[in-house]
Amino acid sequence: MIKDKKGFFITFEGADGCGKTTQINLCKKYLEEKKYETFLTLEPGGSDIGKSLRQILLHHEGYINNTCELYLYLADRAQHTDCVIKKNVDEGKIVLCDRYADSTIAYQGYARGGDVEQIEYLNKIATNGIVPDITFLFDVDSLTAQKRLGEQKDRLENEGLEFHKKIRLGYLELAKKYPQRIKVIDANQPISDVFEQVKKELDRIL
Ligand code: TYD
Repeated sequence: MIKDKKGFFITFEGADGCGKTTQINLCKKYLEEKKYETFLTLEPGGSDIGKSLRQILLHHEGYINNTCELYLYLADRAQHTDCVIKKNVDEGKIVLCDRYADSTIAYQGYARGGDVEQIEYLNKIATNGIVPDITFLFDVDSLTAQKRLGEQKDRLENEGLEFHKKIRLGYLELAKKYPQRIKVIDANQPISDVFEQVKKELDRIL
């Protein structure tokens, strides 16, 4: 959490195909109707430097070493947290961020086999200790998520079912570890039912 902050920091997490982008847009609309000022951002790619990193991370065609991939996500996060997230929270906005530090634990840790404790430590350095006020984890059956992705897939979406099952289990481990911060949302349901669960939490915390 940001010390003496004025705004609020919310992150949205889940495996590819969980439907979180739709839910973030619904959240933004809902909060704006309630007259909150929001700021929508994403990882990777939420900063100026991040846009170039995103291009490499999602669309590089050759081999990328796992450690190189990990550090590129962390580099993106360091710049993004410092120059975008902190600034907007300080200005009193509700920052809605599509993926953050938990993604690195789930993908580069649980799914790629990286050391989860080490990644938690590296995340602390990249974020300068800034932790979301609340995280929505959209949990969906891995097969359903794969079907939702369709044909047009990026580098990580192309990894296949086993990889995505590990991501899902990794996220659920994180939710067990940080139950105060991470709210698990059952994302197997229709869009409006999923949003009802999100809305209930938003009304509770804001
Ligand atoms: P994106 O197109 O933004 O996917 P989504 O809409 O599912 O968020 O691509 C981001 C991809 O990067 C996604 O497959 C997850 C992956 N990722 C990591 O592997 N580690 C990370 O730390 C982050 C932030 C994302």
